[in-house]
Amino acid sequence: MVDMSVTIGGLTLANPVMPASGTFGEGLAGVVDYNSLGAMVTKTITAELRSGNPVPRVSELSNGMLNSIGIPSKGIDHFIAEALPFYRQYGSPLVVSISAPTVEDFASVAKQLNQPGIAAIEANISCPNIEEDGRAFAMTADSTARVVEALRAATALPLWVKLTPNTGDVSAVARAAENAGADALVVANTILAMSIDIETLRPTLGNIMGGMSGQAVKPIIVRMTYQCAQAARIPIIGCGGIASADDAVEYMLAGASAVQVGTASFVKPHALTDVMVGLEAYCRRKGFDRVTDLIGAISDGQMRVDEMDVAL
Ligand SMILES: Cc1cc2nc3c(=O)[nH]c(=O)nc-3n(C[C@H](O)[C@H](O)[C@H](O)COP(=O)(O)O)c2cc1C
Repeated sequence: MVDMSVTIGGLTLANPVMPASGTFGEGLAGVVDYNSLGAMVTKTITAELRSGNPVPRVSELSNGMLNSIGIPSKGIDHFIAEALPFYRQYGSPLVVSISAPTVEDFASVAKQLNQPGIAAIEANISCPNIEEDGRAFAMTADSTARVVEALRAATALPLWVKLTPNTGDVSAVARAAENAGADALVVANTILAMSIDIETLRPTLGNIMGGMSGQAVKPIIVRMTYQCAQAARIPIIGCGGIASADDAVEYMLAGASAVQVGTASFVKPHALTDVMVGLEAYCRRKGFDRVTDLIGAISDGQMRVDEMDVAL
């Protein structure tokens, strides 16, 4: 028997596998046993009703996808009245993803989520679609510190902070979030990207630019997971291109304590189950008694990183 449990900032999960925000909702319940998940993570909710970005909102790539969904939301009151009772049926901890355009609004949404049935808050300070130029709080250490401090003061719930891969210095942002009171880091949201249809000469997304996800982003986000694990002491939840147990193992070896599966669920609705089952099988095969033995177990002793060399 492998002990699959992990603890993320005071919250113990039965296993380290959960969905990524925006790729999971009520609809997957017919395919995935929600009680088996390490956690359930909601689509990002905002204070008010939001309609989202112009269509087309998604476009396919050879090994990933672009989206510019833009956080359509029915608002927090609707979430509490309609969605929360649905999730309360299940035993897995519920993580509610939130976003807002200002520090004050962010804190106010967090405050309103002090509700039975909510286990943690995931602050999406990284969505590249809703701010001018795709800029978000998580682009800089200073604005990360400001918003995380306000969130920390607003809620006693475990606070997970979701970073953006679009920043130039993810280690500094990770440290800023930790110092401001985050309990865990989610690494990461989508990578700002763009594609053009050469027949119509038009961008494939209505919003012109959007976020890239799926298999192609995995090596970039594994690298950022590794960097964040070196920079911060709080647990990291790896997210980007995970479609199989092997991908999840790679993230955990790089330093993640848990993983989120996003785009893969669109291609393979049972991807979450495959990752959970395969991760346990990997631990058994390799003789790991606890899944936590994988965290940061990369064999990189004596090796050094020269980022200048890497860049050349
Ligand atoms: C269609 C779609 C919608 C998304 N919506 C959200 C969202 O509401 N909030 C958020 O934090 N991330 C959102 N994301 C980003 C994912 O949670 C995840 O960080 C990203 O897709 C990388 O993981 P993946 O490669 O496994 O998909 C969305 C991604 C996709 C593809």
